[in-house]
Amino acid sequence: MLTIDWAPNHKDSMPLYRQITEYIKNKITLGEWPIHSKLPPQRRLAHILQVNRSTLTIALDELIADGLLETRAGSGTWVANNTWSVLASTPTVNWNSYLDKGLYLPNLQIIQEINQAEFKPNMIRLGTGELSPEFFPRDMMSSILRNLPERINSLGYEEPKGLLFLRQQIRIYLRSLGIDTSVSSIMIVSGALQALQLICSSLLPKDSTILLEKPSYLFSLKLFQSMNMQFSGIPLDKEGIELTPIAFQKQHKNANLLYTIPCFHNPTSIVMSKQRRRDLIHLCQQEQLPVIEDDVYRELWLDSPPPMPLKALEREGLVLYIGSLSKSLSPGLRIGWIVGPEPVIERLADVKMQNDYGSSSLSQWTAAEWFASGLYQQHLEEVRKALRIRREAACKSLQTHFADIATWQVPTGGFYIWLSLTHPLSMQKLFNLALNEGLLIHPGSIYDYLSNRHLRLSYSYASLSELKEGLYRLSVIIKTLKT
Ligand SMILES: Cc1ncc(COP(=O)(O)O)c(C=O)c1O
Repeated sequence: MLTIDWAPNHKDSMPLYRQITEYIKNKITLGEWPIHSKLPPQRRLAHILQVNRSTLTIALDELIADGLLETRAGSGTWVANNTWSVLASTPTVNWNSYLDKGLYLPNLQIIQEINQAEFKPNMIRLGTGELSPEFFPRDMMSSILRNLPERINSLGYEEPKGLLFLRQQIRIYLRSLGIDTSVSSIMIVSGALQALQLICSSLLPKDSTILLEKPSYLFSLKLFQSMNMQFSGIPLDKEGIELTPIAFQKQHKNANLLYTIPCFHNPTSIVMSKQRRRDLIHLCQQEQLPVIEDDVYRELWLDSPPPMPLKALEREGLVLYIGSLSKSLSPGLRIGWIVGPEPVIERLADVKMQNDYGSSSLSQWTAAEWFASGLYQQHLEEVRKALRIRREAACKSLQTHFADIATWQVPTGGFYIWLSLTHPLSMQKLFNLALNEGLLIHPGSIYDYLSNRHLRLSYSYASLSELKEGLYRLSVIIKTLKT
């Protein structure tokens, strides 16, 4: 589906329908909308362009009459010609026939819609898994960037495992978490997502089975399915992933790997207990089941620090540990790390070199300076303070407006509240209604395909007043849908 981030100007002297035909013609003649590209359904298109259906119909009819668009009931409207193809003696390339041929499956439709809606003005983002722009540490970042020129000798390609100075800083940081490792076992990646992508494309055979919590962040990605891998979901209780099904699944499904988010799990915010961590490591050692520990939310504790990482509980290289600055500092830096046995890290580094020749060296120097200056720890304290206030505000609004329609646990850290609705609802319908009201939500079905009674709320992004207003309006929509 085409992205349309434009709308006609209602104050312009040119009629609205004419502005629309000019816009579409321009897109087609520039080749940005190739032949066979499908336009959004008319009702949606009218909504995006902020015009009424009849204005849109006049514009589309004109383009159909010119032969640029075609339409058929039930199949929608698509680009039929461009001015070049009308004149050319040979047919033009059909790019659309390539779109589903590559390795990657498209994102879930609802994820594509979220990715687009996030940048619409005045949208209240009630599910976004990111720190609010209000948290941006402008002064600290300025001082770090001012100091960089003294450190940086060049911005050339870095070595395959990443900037040594950054890996040295991460080594010191990891030691404070109980992970004792050398710099040769640490590799820098462009965010935790790249770590997952590298693991998936470098270490796992095509038909692998991955055990993981259900629900999980991983269900929101198409990465593993694109490589023909299967997920086998394991329930969580209040101490984290349940152990009994793991051994069963390992034996019966011949699982290749376990993926877990033990700290402030996305989307439930559950923290795996100390005892569960020990038992999980013991079980995976027995079953010879390697573990990916995704620990990107660790630093966002609000009540007390979480137990030591799984990686700190074993010495035989069972766990590949992933960390990132995305949730605690800034996702735009695109800096994360993987820790694991040296041969594995070398393999991943070799594949990363084939992909991108390394993460941005400017970002790597910046990240290193955050650690070396001590400002990262100072920043974390401020983030925790601000998140505590938001968590309280969100829980207060929930208590006022959702007590009769949902249940939830107060999170002890991270960003999320996993809201369980008392009645199942059509998640797509709820999503659309909320979006029309300027509320962007993350339905639970993104993290568990079968869930029609959960929402992942986040208190990290929207401002305090937006949280209050947004949660109230969301409760009204849910109550209307329920009746
Ligand atoms: C559990 C988990 N892992 C990884 C990521 C991706 O992080 P990054 O921005 O570091 O790639 C996210 C982002 O939502 C996440 O929730």
